Amino acid sequence: MSHTVGFVEDFIENTLSRLHTAMMGKIEKFDPEAMKADVQLLVKRKYKKHEAASYPLLQEVPVMTVKTGAFVVRPPYQKGDLVMVLFAEREIDAVVQEGTEEEPVSKRRHALEDAVVIGGWMPFSEDLPEDNADDLVIARTDFSARIVIQKDDNKVHIQTDGPVLVEAEEDVEVKTEGDAIVEAEGDVKVEADGEAVIEAADDVTVEAGGDATVTASGEALLEAGGDAIVEGSSVLLGASAGEAAVLGDSLLAWLNGHTHSHPEGPTGSPQQDAGDDLVSGKVEVED
Ligand SMILES: [Fe+2]
Repeated sequence: MSHTVGFVEDFIENTLSRLHTAMMGKIEKFDPEAMKADVQLLVKRKYKKHEAASYPLLQEVPVMTVKTGAFVVRPPYQKGDLVMVLFAEREIDAVVQEGTEEEPVSKRRHALEDAVVIGGWMPFSEDLPEDNADDLVIARTDFSARIVIQKDDNKVHIQTDGPVLVEAEEDVEVKTEGDAIVEAEGDVKVEADGEAVIEAADDVTVEAGGDATVTASGEALLEAGGDAIVEGSSVLLGASAGEAAVLGDSLLAWLNGHTHSHPEGPTGSPQQDAGDDLVSGKVEVED
């Protein structure tokens, strides 16, 4: 009786020891192009009366991800990353080569050789930041760079301690039915190999704490449907300007009223008035 029970127990123990379902492991090497990894299992194997021993390194284990048609999410696994490993029901050697239906050539069932990595995990000794607990987050583990879709107000938030780069070989469009605001503690620069155009249905305001400079290799045109006003503590036409501008109306009045000295007494004023067509009807200067 005891011999039979012992035999059955040994048989079951022996069989179960070769039947694997799922175990936690650690990435030793990852190939991001082939999406396969070498994985060390973290639970040691133990037979009765034997010392616990490490499982052999699982090599070229396929790494599962989100992959659909033309799209993929590729997690950048690193040596030391913790992963969950499943062991397929039958041999997967031929299947993983081309992704086609294949007949197993071995009798392997739930074997170490048929491991697949299904995802990463983190030990209870580590924590993620408490921020955005209700939101969808793609981030570095310290959240120093993150993309967040917020649950409560539909806000999409891209935040990073480093730079943000948007590059395209074609157009880049930013559209909003609200305001578009660009704020920078450093410089704001808009550079274009083609035209740079600022259009607004309402006012356009350019304010500068320092100088404001408009430079053009071609013409510089200031055009307004209403008045075009140039204000300054002085208004200079030409960087080396030093001559005062003429006040047209005052000059006209003086011309029409001036007299000359003459031996027989001062002359009268000019016989013919200088007409208003001598002064611009469009350009005015400040006194
Ligand atoms: Fe005169």
